[in-house]
Parts: sequence; structure tokens; C-alpha cells
Amino acid sequence: MTVKIFVPRDAAALALGAEKVAKAITQEIAARGLDAKVVRNGSRGMFWLEPLVEVETEKGRIAYGPVKAGDVSGLFDSGLLQGGAHELSIGPTEEIPFLREQTRLTFARCGITDPLSIEDYRRYRGFAGLEKAIATTPADIVRQVTDSGLRGRGGAGFPTGIKWKTVMDAAASQKYIVCNADEGDSATFADRMIMEGDPFVLIEGMAIAGIATGATKGYIYTRSEYPHAIATMTEAIEIARAAGILGLSVMGSAHAFDLEVRSGAGAYVCGEETSLLNSLEGKRGIVRAKPPLPALKGFLGRPTVVNNVISLASVPVIMDRGAEYYKNFGMGRSRGTIPIQIAGNVKHGGLYEVAFGLTLGEIVDRIGGGTATGRPVKAVQVGGPLGAYFPRALFDTPFDYEAFAAKDGLIGHAGITVFDDTADMLKQARFAMEFCAIESCGKCTPCRIGSTRGVETADKIKQGIEPEKNKALLADLCNTMKFGSLCALGGFTPYPVMSAMTHFPEDFSPAPMVEAAE
Ligand SMILES: Cc1cc2nc3c(=O)[nH]c(=O)nc-3n(C[C@H](O)[C@H](O)[C@H](O)COP(=O)(O)O)c2cc1C
Ligand code: SF4
Repeated sequence: MTVKIFVPRDAAALALGAEKVAKAITQEIAARGLDAKVVRNGSRGMFWLEPLVEVETEKGRIAYGPVKAGDVSGLFDSGLLQGGAHELSIGPTEEIPFLREQTRLTFARCGITDPLSIEDYRRYRGFAGLEKAIATTPADIVRQVTDSGLRGRGGAGFPTGIKWKTVMDAAASQKYIVCNADEGDSATFADRMIMEGDPFVLIEGMAIAGIATGATKGYIYTRSEYPHAIATMTEAIEIARAAGILGLSVMGSAHAFDLEVRSGAGAYVCGEETSLLNSLEGKRGIVRAKPPLPALKGFLGRPTVVNNVISLASVPVIMDRGAEYYKNFGMGRSRGTIPIQIAGNVKHGGLYEVAFGLTLGEIVDRIGGGTATGRPVKAVQVGGPLGAYFPRALFDTPFDYEAFAAKDGLIGHAGITVFDDTADMLKQARFAMEFCAIESCGKCTPCRIGSTRGVETADKIKQGIEPEKNKALLADLCNTMKFGSLCALGGFTPYPVMSAMTHFPEDFSPAPMVEAAE
């Protein structure tokens, strides 16, 4: 039987040399006349081991990593096809603690299947959720999604079922499903991993959303900085169309649904749903005032579901296994699982899907393994550039929307960035203001002007100019931005700034300037 050797096609693995590794393996197979083939899978999400090469053996998949092209010949000499011992051998993939301890519902197939093999997808329960959705009523689908407790994974945590019900109940001749795949948050890559590693799950989730709400057309809005995701998604859509999953009759049903990928130029604010809709319509990516809600007047003024990739990709498992199954994971009002993305100065960076409820400390210290530099962790920013910085004193906070909000933080898209004790939190606060100034759409004054004043004020604190007065001014600016901004870009920039000031006051009191020696 032909032995399968897996080499990821995920952008993170490619950035670390996976293409060269795949080529070297293909050449080695040919040169040695072996009965083996290379399968390009998605990433398992253990980036410190990429490129992670796996071989399918009688004992299951055996992993090696990180593999360089120069290691390939030696791996074959050591009996790679039989899972032979080698210094890069990690043993059975499923036994790697980082992977073994996860609960992979949304990412169940990612890294296991060939992302563009529809047969592989079906083999791992693919389209089982869609089949069930077709067999039931739109109202029942919406009820199941509501009962599952699924909340939007894009940042705001709004209940997905309630959004779908608004669109379902809206009377219109045309409705839309828009997938927000802009993924602008720092330290986040879950959307990209799904699009590159299991694109059919997103197609399935969007088709279910279409059937539930009466929308016949969907768009996946992503950024031009995601070329691999765009290519994989586009190809997967063509394959799904040819297989009768998309088109005038979804899986032979009376429902029509089709999809298109659109890419923006990569502006952070274009991830905000109304700005995204403007961009999708070919206009400048500027935020629209709400109401009207996109659910009632969205893309081209029609009722539109705007959901994040992970929200939509979580729907197939909910429909397949049932709302109760999904709801049983998690804590409080945060139900199901969350793909946590661990990045920054951390030993084990990657994607970790788990039920809500792990503490931040467990994620950073145990799962992430502490900093890559080996120095003490000073701060962790959770939730992208608009998220708060948490000090070690708050590491007992469980990963839960309400628990983070109670500590003036947010989960956002579940990206966490780790900093060691060399981080300068005043610099980070300035960076937050600068980021807002650069990315502001310019529609409202507190954000457009406030962020620029924020940068200037942080600079004055740094220079030791009237520090107490300027700290009070910075806090005042934050207050104005928080309560006076139209959208969360201006409204949430105060979170990183204020958390840095509150938890790391020592960084905001630079040593007084030394008088020049006489
Ligand atoms: C400045 C800004 C950027 C955002 N960027 C994203 C993004 O990249 N991806 C995303 O899904 N949501 C993003 N959001 C949230 C969206 O506005 C919206 O809440 C989300 O797409 C809704 O989908 P969900 O309910 O599935 O989370 C952003 C919001 C703001 C204010
Ligand atoms: S807060 Fe900033 S990004 Fe949002 S609408 Fe106002 S100016 Fe635009």
C-alpha cells in the first residue's frame, strides 16, 4: 500500500520551509523507488514544530519536526516510512501533549485531511451537519444554533442564533451571508488556518446559514495578505460547486446557495462589519452608523448575516452532534470551544482549541511553556490590538467572555500575545494610540483626533514632561474615546492604554532626567 507522508501547505509551515521539504521528500521517494506519496495537509497548529512531517504507519501517524530540507535524506535512511527513530522524531502525533489535551470540534479535521479532498472531508463526518440542516426547517436550524449557546468568535461575542433569527424573519427578495475573514487582530490566525486547512467546513457552515436565513448568496471577505487562504478557498468553492454542494440545488435540495471570495487591501477597520460591507460594495472602508443593523440592511441594503469564520465553521458540528453536545463544553455564558491562538514571546506558539474556562495562567505557563526567551512573563495582551494587558496577578482569570470583561479586558478573537520582563508598557500604550491613529477610518473625532493626541501625550510622559498632568490627560483622553467613539476601534483602544497604566504604573514614571555634570 502506498505510504502517505504529510507535509503542511499552511502559510506558517510554508514560511518555515515546508515547500522545500515537500520537494525534497518527493525527490527522495523517486530516487529510492519507494511506494509513497506526499499529501499536503493543513497545520496541526504547533508552530514551533513546523514544518511538521507526519508518516502514516500501522501504529498511526508518527511525527517529525521541525524538519528542514537537509534532514530529509537522513530521515529516509532512518526508516521514515516505518516511523523509524530519528533525532527529529516526536512519536505518535496524537500523543503530543499540546494536541492530546485539546478538544477539537471546529478544528477536528485541520491537519488530518487533505484540505482539497472532498472525499477526505466526507470520511471525517463532513457535510453531515448540512444534510441534517436540509432535512429540517430553517426555524429549527436557528433554534439549534441558539440553543448551542454559540457566540460570535469575531470579537463581540454576540449570540449567533439571535443574529440569524433577525435575518430569517426579515422579508426580502435577496439576503446575504457574509463571512468576516479579515482577521486583522494581532496574534490571530485561526481563520486563516481553517481556510487553508479545512475550507469545506466553512463552506458547509455558510451553506447552513444560507438555508436557515433564506440567503442564497455568500461572500467570504478576506485580505490580500492571505494569498494561500484565498487560493485554497477559491479552489474548494469550485470543487464544492462541481460536487453539487453549492449552486442552484444544495445537495439535491430545493435550497440554492453559492459563494465567492473577495479580498480587501488589508485595513484593520475593514474587519468592522459595516466598514467591511462598504468595502465589499466597492466603497471606501468607512464605518456606518448603526442602526440600521446589517441583519436588516446590510450588503447592498439587504438583510445580511455577518459572521466570523470560526462562528460559521463551528455550525456544522453543532448541526451534526446537536446543540446539547456543543453546549456541554464551556462555562457560564461562554459555551462550546474556543480556538486560542498563542503568540508573541512564547515557547510553544500555536492554536489550541479547548472548552472555555482554562485560566490565562494555564494557557501561558503550562500550554505555551512560558516565554521563548526564558525570561519571566511580564504581560499578556488578550484580544488583539484593542485588548487589555494582563499582569501575572490576573492569571487566574478564566477564559470566558464575562470573566475577562469583569477585569476590564476582552477575549476578542482569542489571540494572546506574550511579553517578557523587558517589555516597556508605556511604549505599548503609545503603540495602541499610534495603531488607532493609523487605522482610524476618520469618521468620528474622539478616535481620529484623540488617538493622535494620545501619541503626543505618551511621548511627553516618556520625556518626563509634567508626568502627573499628562497621565491624567491620557486617562481623560481614554475616557472620551471610550464613550464618544462610533465603533470599537476608537472605543476599545483605551483598554490596552488604561490596562498598561493601571497594572504597570512603574513604566509610566520614567526616572527623572539626570542633570548634566558640572
Ligand atoms: C475595528 C474592528 C475590527 C474588527 N475586525 C474583525 C475581524 O477581523 N474579524 C471578525 O470576524 N470580526 C471583526 N470585528 C468584529 C465585527 O465588527 C463583527 O462583530 C463580527 O464580524 C461579527 O461576527 P461574529 O458575530 O461571528 O463574531 C471587528 C470589529 C472592529 C470594531
Ligand atoms: S471609532 Fe474610529 S474607526 Fe470607528 S467610526 Fe470612529 S473614526 Fe472610524
